[in-house]
Amino acid sequence: MSYLKNNAAGDGRSYIHGFGNQFESEAIAGALPIGMNSPKTSPLGLYAEQLSGTAFTATRAENRRTWLYRRRPSINEAPQEPYAGNDSWLTAPLRDGVLDPRTLRWRPPHARGEQDFIGSLTTIGGNGSAPDQVGCAIHIYNACRSMEGTAFCNSDGELLVVPQQGSLEVQTELGWLTVRPGEVVLIPRGLCFRILLTDRSARGYVLENYGPAFRLPELGPIGANGLANARDFQCPVAAFDAQESDYRIITKFFGSFWVRQLGHSPFNVVAWHGNLVPFKYDLERLNAFGSVSYDSPDPCISTVLTSPSPQPGTAYIDFVAFPPRWQVAEDTFRPPFFHRNVMTEFMGLIHGIYEGKNDGFLPGGFSLHSCMAPHGPDRDTYVQGTQEASVPKKLQGTMAFMFETKLPVYLNPAVLDWPELDRDYVNCWKGFAPTVV
Ligand code: FE2
Repeated sequence: MSYLKNNAAGDGRSYIHGFGNQFESEAIAGALPIGMNSPKTSPLGLYAEQLSGTAFTATRAENRRTWLYRRRPSINEAPQEPYAGNDSWLTAPLRDGVLDPRTLRWRPPHARGEQDFIGSLTTIGGNGSAPDQVGCAIHIYNACRSMEGTAFCNSDGELLVVPQQGSLEVQTELGWLTVRPGEVVLIPRGLCFRILLTDRSARGYVLENYGPAFRLPELGPIGANGLANARDFQCPVAAFDAQESDYRIITKFFGSFWVRQLGHSPFNVVAWHGNLVPFKYDLERLNAFGSVSYDSPDPCISTVLTSPSPQPGTAYIDFVAFPPRWQVAEDTFRPPFFHRNVMTEFMGLIHGIYEGKNDGFLPGGFSLHSCMAPHGPDRDTYVQGTQEASVPKKLQGTMAFMFETKLPVYLNPAVLDWPELDRDYVNCWKGFAPTVV
């Protein structure tokens, strides 16, 4: 498979492939009960426990749950106490959130203190309401420590992590995933996890989805194949910690942090089966589509995952990636066109140069174009786009992405004071001469 030859190498771990399947995995053969979920006595004496990601009564198509067979139930053995937590991780509705109509862009933020993944999470903005299970929050992380002896469990939503620098070793109750920049990992609501660093530091972006779980977009006339193919999603195989060691479990419960102590690892699930699973996905596997005749399609053609709203065809969140691909449309302005959008667009850059900006949009940086904010190519990109030869061209060495949301994003007011805010951003659109009429 020559197209993916540069990223086809595995990370040494075993995974189960597929999206939305009913998976099952055993770290010890025979640990799963056969033909039933909750026998009077489970194999190996394990405790059976169900993790429900949707209402018991959700439609079969929506229903997500997983049965865990573990060395101890995940009940609290010790009192759960309020925890100071991370006051930079905000939860919607944002009490002091700011709506700002300007086109905004930030350079890559510097680390603020020596934190692990959870401690370093800093909210850029959010919308909707976690208690109402509507909307999302957008965060960045900038970690330089592993989560040793600490696990985290988020009651407020699933977490889509987009690493930009530094690989992550993600331990979950269902097993391990290794995730490098260019891949993304999704951790379901309520699943315990911790993140270890393999490099000196790690940074990236996080989308916290309070609403309906991410799923693959419909393909419509594209057909049965294309975009993110289900078989390319990878979920872990069962793996458990057998040793007894002290752990603290931090939870976020509708914006407030709590902590409890355990005398053992929460990662003690010996076997599991179900369809509520963490997974990772390599964005370069996106089977990108584009015009083979004329005009550039809307960016939704590159949707990887979507969280639908009750409004038909309109998502609370679309996660869209812009991977390397050929551009062949004839007599067409190929860079992203000028536009205004009822949806709010948060963009990040994992590596390379984004096709719509020649300068100033840096890997690790991000931009926010809110509802109806005019934006588009900077002037240099525009000039190049109008002058380039109408021949096939391959965009290479780039990976940008967008979180697009139907609700306006209320900003964490602190980010408007950050030194990384690019106060010259609008200058990239200076110099457009009037047309001759
Ligand atoms: Fe846009």
